[in-house]
Amino acid sequence: MMIKLTVNGEERAVDATPGMPLLWVLRDLLGLKGTKFGCGNALCGACTVHLNGRAIRSCGVPVESADGASVVTIEGLGETAMARVQAAWIEAQVPQCGYCQPGMIMSVAAILSEEPGLQPDAVRERLTNICRCGTYDRINTAIAQLFPAR
Ligand code: FES
Ligand code: FES
Repeated sequence: MMIKLTVNGEERAVDATPGMPLLWVLRDLLGLKGTKFGCGNALCGACTVHLNGRAIRSCGVPVESADGASVVTIEGLGETAMARVQAAWIEAQVPQCGYCQPGMIMSVAAILSEEPGLQPDAVRERLTNICRCGTYDRINTAIAQLFPAR
């Protein structure tokens, strides 16, 4: 079936099998490999993208439910106000293998967009993504850098 999406500000049309996860569409049909496949069960967060401004785990979203929606992936985040999250990640040198980090960044960006008044500890509490390399201390450092010193 034909599905229309706006992906990173660009209108795209894809011919996808009904039920195909949005993650497959992004990676295999649109060639956007920054979004990662981890658990495939909406548990780890490696596949996190923004769907109409909200963080979703794209491995668990059938693409037909996203027909007509706006999607932002890690490739497009740098063109948004949330580019500062990527900058904080670079400053704190967060990644080890890096596999989970696009999902981490997209999740934190969505948390801050939805609730800009949150303090760092509250952002961290809402972040349920998993990092097998255990980079959580540096993730905390990067999140702290997103807030002005008091
Ligand atoms: S791959 Fe989607 S949540 Fe793990
Ligand atoms: S940096 Fe390796 S899984 Fe997170």
